[in-house]
Parts: sequence; C-alpha cells; structure tokens
Amino acid sequence: MSIYSASTTAPVNIATLKYWGKRDKVLNLPTNSSISVTLSQEDLRTLTTATTSPDFAKDQLWLNGKEESLASERTQHCLQDLRQLRRELEEKDSSLPTFSQWKLHIASENNFPTAAGLASSAAGFAALIKAIAKLYELPQSESELSKIARKGSGSACRSLFGGYVAWEMGKLEDGSDSKAVEIGSLNHWPEMKAAILVVSADKKDTPSTSGMQLTVKTSDLFQERINNVVPKRFEQMKKSILEKDFPTFAELTMKDSNSFHATCLDSYPPIFYLNDTSKKVIKLCHAINEFYNETVVAYTFDAGPNAVLYYLEQSEDKLFAFLYHLFQNVSGWESKFTKEQLSQFNAKFDEIKDDVSFYLDSELHQGVTRVILTRVGPGPQDTDLSLIDSATGLPS
Ligand code: DP6
Repeated sequence: MSIYSASTTAPVNIATLKYWGKRDKVLNLPTNSSISVTLSQEDLRTLTTATTSPDFAKDQLWLNGKEESLASERTQHCLQDLRQLRRELEEKDSSLPTFSQWKLHIASENNFPTAAGLASSAAGFAALIKAIAKLYELPQSESELSKIARKGSGSACRSLFGGYVAWEMGKLEDGSDSKAVEIGSLNHWPEMKAAILVVSADKKDTPSTSGMQLTVKTSDLFQERINNVVPKRFEQMKKSILEKDFPTFAELTMKDSNSFHATCLDSYPPIFYLNDTSKKVIKLCHAINEFYNETVVAYTFDAGPNAVLYYLEQSEDKLFAFLYHLFQNVSGWESKFTKEQLSQFNAKFDEIKDDVSFYLDSELHQGVTRVILTRVGPGPQDTDLSLIDSATGLPS
C-alpha cells in the first residue's frame, strides 16, 4: 500500500479577551474580535497524524485510540476546504499525486486528560488543519489556514500561532477577513506563565456553541458588550501586550472574564459556568494583588469552572507563597519544582503570614483536582512522531 503521511502538534490557547457569540453559525463568524495567549505544548498539546492513500476506502478518524465520527458539518467543512486547496495545486501541476481525491486516515492524541475540560477542541482542530495542510503541501499562510480552523471551532483559529494572538472578527459576509493574526511572538514577552487550577465540576456545563447562541438571543447586556466594551478593550489589550504592560493586561483580562460571565448570567434562562471554587479563586487573586499592592496575577475562566491564572515569571515567588500554601495537596507541583524550590515557597509564606489579613480558606484545595503549571508557548510544530502505521494505514 502506498501511504503518504504528515504529523503536527498544536497548542491550546486561553483567551484573555473572550470570543462569545456568532454572527454566522455555519461560517463560525464571531460577534467580536478576541485575544489569547498560546500555551506551551510541553504541558498541553494535540498530536495529529494525517495519512492518505488511493487504497483507503473511507475517511476515518481516531481520537486517543478510539474511532470517532468525521461526519459533523464543521469537520466536513474543514476537509472540503483543504481538499479544494489541494485540488488547485493539482490542477496547476499534473505531476502531483491526486491526494484531493483520496480518502484520509487521521489519528489524534492529547498529552493531557481530555476530561479536564480544557480547551481541547482548539488544539484538536488546529492540529487537524495543520497536519492535512502539511500532507497536502499547501502554500497558504497561517492566517489563511486559521480561516479553515475557525470553521471547525472558533477558538481553534487562534491556535495556529504561538505567543499572543488576535482573532480579527472581520466584516465581510463570506468570512474571508475573519482570521487569526500574531500580536506578539513568544519571544516578544516570554516571561508570561500560567497556572491552571482544574476545578472539579459535578455536572456537565452548557456547551459553548449553544451557550453563546442563547446569550446572543436573550441577553441585553451582551449588546453593550459587543458594541461598546470589547472594541475599546481589544485595542487597549493589544497595546498592553505590545508594551509588555502586565498590570494593564491583567486588569483587562480579569474584567473581560467577568464581563463574559456576566452576559452568561444575563442570558435567559441564565448560564452558570463559575462555581463556588471559581468565585473563591477570583477573591483570592484580588486579595493577593491588594496584599502586595501590585498586580501579580490575573484570572480568566472559559465556559467552565477551571481557573487560568496568568502571571510573570518574576512574580512567581510572590504568587506561589499563597498558591503552594493553599494547593500543595493537589498534584502538579513536583514535576515543575525541586523540593528546595517548594520549601522556599513555604518559607516565603511563613515570612508574610502574620501580615495576611484576608481569609485564607484552607478547604479551597478540595474544589481543585489538579494544578497545571505552564507558560506561553510556540505555535504548531512539525514532528517525526507518527500515530499511524505506514504499512497498514491504521493507528499504531
Ligand atoms: C469561552 O471556540 O469552543 O472559550 O466556535 O462554537 O466551537 P465554537 O466555540 P468555542 O468557544 C470558546 C469560547 C470561550 C472563549 C474563547 O476561547 O475565546
């Protein structure tokens, strides 16, 4: 069997200015522009292998070893677009193998538990698009490919880039100007780190797609958000990233998370993504910033209770004096720090504890199952790893 293969890894991104609301559901066009930070693939990434062969009978997909359907309209949309671009190449150069007519076998794997409720669809669609684009040897830029990823899942378009990324909403009806662009590379501001507090949720949240539809339809506050709040904030946040102004970046990030969750509460019937643990984490972050009289940490929450805390490397000791004290019983610390470093966080807490006047909830760790310590990272990467056996065309 002659099998052609290509593999890519793609990162997770966590928005600091949230995408919430579609103006076109089929093309996945948003009601506002958004901004995100791409996270390191050492901690969170999807690896995808795309293969094609004239001998494959049908398109097939395996996720974490289990066969999954490719039938969703969104996935079909992405595959059609990629095949169309490949067809254009084949029409110009008849020596190319006719990949556009052959079926695909795709295998994909996350290096983190999909059940943790982290933005796995963003990394998943970004990796899918990049792996097939590499297989097809498409010349399109990342921004061009981001328009295809967008049709898979809106937030996925931002995972085509590393560092600091904007999804420009665009104005055109056909979506050809709704794409991701880089605001600043990973090297522009490499000191940005993130601590993700994985919060245990007892029930499944409203999926983001239906949640945002309900918000668009029923929330009055949402109109204020998209017309007056976000356009201004988008420019301010871009500027704060370009100037590496963490206090401004942090304040805008926290306010935007709160604004997005306010529109969820203003939906009818209301949608609740934050739980009691999330709310305690919000209070804790404000208390920490107040304690140091300095912005050391910013929180943001997506469509679920997990907290993503952004901070700068130079503030790690200050932040972790609190976080390690509160969450040391939760897994995730030992893989990132030596015993000495961890005991320094404890020592730092001992130093300041008498001055801490706010309530430190010693039960807070019970609502958190895991801490993922990561940082800003690069965009999708080529890899020689492969998830498909080149002799059989099946998962290896
Ligand atoms: C709260 O990208 O998952 O994480 O386009 O319907 O697939 P679809 O939605 P999705 O929504 C993400 C919403 C968010 C905010 C964000 O990532 O900007």
